[in-house]
Amino acid sequence: MTGNDIRRSFLDYFTRQSHTVVKSSSLVPDKDPTLLFTNAGMVQFKNVFLGQERLPYSRAASSQKCLRISGKHNDLEAVGRDTYHHTFFEMLGNWSFGDYYKAEAIEWAWELLTREWGLPKDKLWATVYLDDDQAERLWAKISGLPAERIRRFGEKENFWEMGETGPCGPCSEIHLDRGPEACDRNGLPGHVCQVNGDCARYIELWNLVFIQYNRKDNRELEELPSKHVDTGMGLERITAVLQNVLSNYDIDFM
Ligand code: SER
Repeated sequence: MTGNDIRRSFLDYFTRQSHTVVKSSSLVPDKDPTLLFTNAGMVQFKNVFLGQERLPYSRAASSQKCLRISGKHNDLEAVGRDTYHHTFFEMLGNWSFGDYYKAEAIEWAWELLTREWGLPKDKLWATVYLDDDQAERLWAKISGLPAERIRRFGEKENFWEMGETGPCGPCSEIHLDRGPEACDRNGLPGHVCQVNGDCARYIELWNLVFIQYNRKDNRELEELPSKHVDTGMGLERITAVLQNVLSNYDIDFM
């Protein structure tokens, strides 16, 4: 599959799950003074999550152009040092606006990766937020992953926030083990290849955010009236995986 086929295949898969495909929004958010650039697919839906705007559909999917060069999600320091971060990239995503929640988000992500795209189940890992027993149980039931490949992490890794304020919540990530040959820190003293470690062997493929709070100016978390789903998967990264190359810079559309 080319990168364009992969984008199409993602959007088609979620169309079959009754999602409305929406266009990538502007890289400069037009109605959000809290962000300089669009840093995730959910930015155009911020007011929907906050209950301040209603859309004629409750499920959406898109491939959003993103820039991560400033603010909370700033990848500038990683670009050029590893082979899988970019300042500018596309993020594939699916959303539920008060519609489905954790079970469907996990089920569809797992089905798309393993059945549609054929990724090997024994190379995939899932992570959940510290106290998210529900997501952990769902992962075990839906994917059949053994307990040692469903790991818990804290706020830094498994609680996603768009910026200093705004919709946020615990998240669950899917990581891929690309094998020992993908490690770029081999032989360094004390180095251990691991999920959320510091080498290129395990890479995060997809982030499933369970949006249930609004982070307010005073840093307090306010429970939102409805629960939502916001997922994001870098198109360049999944394309490298499906095209069987270790560097995003070796995919067909770079
Ligand atoms: N908003 C989350 C992220 O950017 C999931 O789409 O990772």
